[in-house]
This record gives sequence, structure tokens and C-alpha cells, in this order.
Amino acid sequence: MVLVVIAIQIILLLILIACWLYFASMLISDLFGVPFVPTRNKSLDQIFDFIEFNQKDVFYDLGSGDGRLPFYIAKKYNIKAVGVELNPLLHVFCLFKKWLTKSEKVQFYRRNFFNLDLKPATVIYLFLFPEVVEKLYPKFMKHCPRGTVIISHGFKIKKLESKKVAELPNKPFATYFYRL
Ligand SMILES: C[S@@+](CC[C@H](N)C(=O)[O-])C[C@H]1O[C@@H](n2cnc3c(N)ncnc32)[C@H](O)[C@@H]1O
Repeated sequence: MVLVVIAIQIILLLILIACWLYFASMLISDLFGVPFVPTRNKSLDQIFDFIEFNQKDVFYDLGSGDGRLPFYIAKKYNIKAVGVELNPLLHVFCLFKKWLTKSEKVQFYRRNFFNLDLKPATVIYLFLFPEVVEKLYPKFMKHCPRGTVIISHGFKIKKLESKKVAELPNKPFATYFYRL
């Protein structure tokens, strides 16, 4: 009986620590300018049904949060998927999950995506504030090869409107697809 009580207390403590880390992650990301708000898991199939991946594709999530997109893409399409995240707590979480799940196709960088080489990416995903996305625009135009797909969840990329290939008007966020 005593052992059961201790086990329950340990589980509750772990849940409490997990909740605390989750909210601390949100606060830290807020300091970097974009809060950590993950894309809903139930939206992922709808969003990526729009894309025809091939084995040579390389997926990048700029501001990858808890890494759910790189894990999802690598598992479902068996392609290389990269997450780039500034928040150290989220980065450590992703590395731990990679170790736990033995996912070889995912890779995580703790980096500011403004200082990242985007040339290897063939599909880039963004769930960021519009002003941040607009600041990324010159980088896309300078570094990304023709044909690179850019998916913006939540906000249109006004300067890329002429290159929009599809739109998914979903709730709570629409998703916009562009091809450079
Ligand atoms: C709205 S969340 C999206 C998380 C994930 N892409 C998803 O859809 O589930 C945005 C993330 O971008 C990260 N971020 C903001 N600015 C960044 C920067 N300059 N470089 C790298 N990560 C950044 C934040 O820490 C946050 O985790």
C-alpha cells in the first residue's frame, strides 16, 4: 500500500514537472518573439495531404517547437526532416524524444533560423508571426532554389502571393502553400 502511494506521488510530481516545463517553454519562446504554440496534431494529415513528397525531399520546420512536425514527417514519409529551434528547453526535449524513439531521419538544430543555410530544404514549414515571416522573405529569395515549397500555417506571406499554389481554409488556422 505504501509503495502504491509513493508511486502515485512520483507520477503526480512528474506530471507537475512536465506541466511546469511546458509553460516555461512557452514563456522562453515568447522572449524570442514568437510564442510556442504547436500546430494541432489533428491538422497534420490535412495539411500534408496537399504535398506529394518524394524520397529526395528534405523537410525543414523553422521554429520547430516540440518537434512534432519533423517526427511526423520523418515517420510518415520516411524522408529527412529537420527542426530548428532557439528555445533550449524545447531543443533538449526534441533530442530526448529522438533518443527515445530512435528516429534516425530527424535532426534538430538549436539555432536562430535567420542564420541558417536553407539551401538543402525542399519543403519549408512555418508557424510564425507575419512580421517574422516577412523578414524571412529575402532569405527565401536569395537562398532557396526554384521549386522549393513553403508552407505557412496561420498567416499569408503577402510578398509570395503570386507564387501561391493552394490554400487550406481550416480552423483555427488556415494554411497557405507556395512554390518558389
Ligand atoms: C508557434 S511555435 C510553432 C512550433 C512548431 N513549428 C509547430 O508548428 O508545432 C513557433 C516556434 O518558433 C520558435 N522561434 C521563434 N523565433 C525563432 C528563431 N528566430 N529561430 C528559431 N526558432 C524560433 C519559438 O521558440 C517557437 O517554439
